[in-house]
Amino acid sequence: MADVSSKPYVPSHPDVIVVGGGIIGLSAAWQLLREGVEVAVVDPAPGTGASHAAAGMLAPIHEAYWGETHILRLNLAASQAWPAFADSLGVDAVDYRRNGMLMAAYDADDKALLDNLGDLHEQEGLPVERLRNRECRFREPLLAPGVRGGVYSPLDHQVNPRRVVAELLRRVPTIPASVTEVAGNQVATDDGRVMACQQVVVAAGAWTGRLLGVPIRPIKGQILRLSGPEGLLQLPVRGVVRGSSVYAVPRSDGEIVVGATQEEQGFDTRVTAGGVYELLRDVLALLPGLSEIDLVETWAGLRPGAPDNAPIIGTGDDGIVYATGHYRNGILTAPITATAVSAVVQGHEPPVDLVPFSPGRFDAKPGGHTPDPEHLSGVPA
Ligand code: FAD
Ligand code: GLY
Repeated sequence: MADVSSKPYVPSHPDVIVVGGGIIGLSAAWQLLREGVEVAVVDPAPGTGASHAAAGMLAPIHEAYWGETHILRLNLAASQAWPAFADSLGVDAVDYRRNGMLMAAYDADDKALLDNLGDLHEQEGLPVERLRNRECRFREPLLAPGVRGGVYSPLDHQVNPRRVVAELLRRVPTIPASVTEVAGNQVATDDGRVMACQQVVVAAGAWTGRLLGVPIRPIKGQILRLSGPEGLLQLPVRGVVRGSSVYAVPRSDGEIVVGATQEEQGFDTRVTAGGVYELLRDVLALLPGLSEIDLVETWAGLRPGAPDNAPIIGTGDDGIVYATGHYRNGILTAPITATAVSAVVQGHEPPVDLVPFSPGRFDAKPGGHTPDPEHLSGVPA
């Protein structure tokens, strides 16, 4: 067990420099540290990117989409890695909870969308329960009386990402600077330093594409935090409401996170009246009782997205190890990415096949970086 009572010691000549201190970079650094590798994370503002926005659903099943079997497999492996990862930080400290997740359909068309996803679940042999209206409301009494049905997944869990980042920051050494250039095993920072190490890992989230030539773009998500009595909502609820998706994730302290929009807006992180309106409209249609509790925060974060929605994990032609593009599932996939990065850095066998996630997979497709509009349009998420 690491000593977390004092500030982490920052090595003057780390073996590994990790660029980016979101959940991905910090988790990778934590794994490397636990395996005896000297590491430092460089970030001007660790933990303030997408990881600060995230709801914290650990949902391989309710984040499964047609045509993305390789992502589903990674997400399922990630879900299995979570108990040990949460243990390493403190299960209560990070509010890791395994109470399953319900997805509900608001009207008949939404039910048709859910049935279509149910076919995918069946085809993949995923353990879900298809529920009728009354069964949904038995699981979550706050649901609107008119919901048309739903799908309960016992395998989808949750965690508080802000607490995860806070626990990682107590354990992982960080250097407060912005990286301006990465070349081989050297990084240059905006305060004029050049640092050398044996291996650079780049985990700069949505900003990775700006720093290096990988096709990562920001996908904006506006998200709300409500606060009410503890236990008001029994379990995380996702919904399809007149074709758009919404979710409500309860924390053990009474906070309920409501998200999220999905917008192609570049690096814009403004919270808009329209974004907040749509989220409240949809969540209150599904869970009308939430209208009585406090709205305590509005926020927006930038998901790092690759053209094929899959993360980029592995060594590039430039010798840099990449850990980016985790899009909608970076909280879920942090532990498995961390062990994969650590294995790659040390020349060990990774815990999953990284070929579908290789940095080089886009090289043969110049101009093939167009986002898939259907995936980004707000169909069940
Ligand atoms: P970030 O957290 O964005 O961290 C990147 C870091 O890199 C930042 O700290 C930044 O300061 C640093 N950086 C950038 N450029 C430089 C530089 N030049 N030099 C040094 N440092 C640099 N995922 C889930 O699994 N479950 C969810 O429920 C969920 N909900 C989400 C809800 C919303 C609204 C959003 C926006 C995302 C959600 N996600 C969710 C996705 C998840 O948040 C991301 O996939 C994940 O946080 C990505 O982590 P990251 O560390 O790669 O990026
Ligand atoms: N995974 C939820 C989101 O990205 O909004």
